[in-house]
Amino acid sequence: MKYYLAPLEGITTYIYRRAYHTYFHPMDKYFIPFLSPHMKKGFTTKELREIAPENHMGMRTIPQILTNHAQDFIRTVQKLEELGYDEVNLNLGCPSKTVVSKGRGSGFLAKPEELDRFLDEIYANVKVKISIKTRLGKYQPDEFEWLLSIYNQYPVEELIIHPRVQQDYYKNTPNYEVFGEALKNSRNPVCYNGDLFRTEDVRRLEQRFPEVSTIMLGRGIIYNPGLVSEMEDGDKLDKNRLRQFHDQIYDEYQSLNMGERNVLFKMKEIWCYMGHLFPDCEKPLKKIKKAERMSKYEEAVREIL
Ligand SMILES: Cc1cc2nc3c(=O)[nH]c(=O)nc-3n(C[C@H](O)[C@H](O)[C@H](O)COP(=O)(O)O)c2cc1C
Repeated sequence: MKYYLAPLEGITTYIYRRAYHTYFHPMDKYFIPFLSPHMKKGFTTKELREIAPENHMGMRTIPQILTNHAQDFIRTVQKLEELGYDEVNLNLGCPSKTVVSKGRGSGFLAKPEELDRFLDEIYANVKVKISIKTRLGKYQPDEFEWLLSIYNQYPVEELIIHPRVQQDYYKNTPNYEVFGEALKNSRNPVCYNGDLFRTEDVRRLEQRFPEVSTIMLGRGIIYNPGLVSEMEDGDKLDKNRLRQFHDQIYDEYQSLNMGERNVLFKMKEIWCYMGHLFPDCEKPLKKIKKAERMSKYEEAVREIL
């Protein structure tokens, strides 16, 4: 099985990705949360840090672009090529209202003809490989038949399917039937993404779809960074390793001089997921949630790890 780390805006930052790569079973690809091209401007400092090759030594990293303007996409790819990237990903999955209302992310799926013209223009003008991360549609899973017939006309490096529609957000369960149809009918390689939280979830997917050879993991890794190490190397999650992983992330956020509150915000977001590994630590987990000072936070982390 090949494993990809999903882009999770705000969580899988370069700091998180690098710490993951250092301490756990390396991913085959790391997807960078979306870059939204701005009018004429170059990348922001934050974006530059996210894409800087020197922040990803030894890792295969794929930048993701969120736009419905072909020229913006093409311009952004040119800038990424200058940094050495040979593959990019198009975001057709983001369900957030602000994105969808502008016809981007999974909002673009509601306009198949426009999407087709957009893909025609980018695939004709871009030399690097382009993979697509998509949902099944905006309203109904049966929208995917038409969408897939469009994707099939292009040399999509990989079609990463999160089998929900925009209106599901992250509710309901992934639609395995439509995913199975897509797997049969896609002319391009398919990667599965969605709700793989535990080893059993992955085994079940493998049983149902033995032809799937690539999966993208998002929240499952934030819940348990040792998930792939457990599946591939038989390693049980080790608290020492988790502590080192945590400390690297914590130290690197502090070195960005973003202020105590922001560092704590970043760490608390990770603990919202990772806390589930420690069902017996209700008290210190609450302490983390409420911590307004680093000293309190560190005390709680020591109790847990
Ligand atoms: C907080 C958060 C941020 C996300 N940011 C992005 C993003 O920048 N680009 C993207 O394509 N998907 C994004 N996603 C979707 C994930 O990449 C993934 O498709 C989704 O979480 C389902 O996979 P999972 O069940 O393995 O988490 C985000 C999801 C979450 C929960």
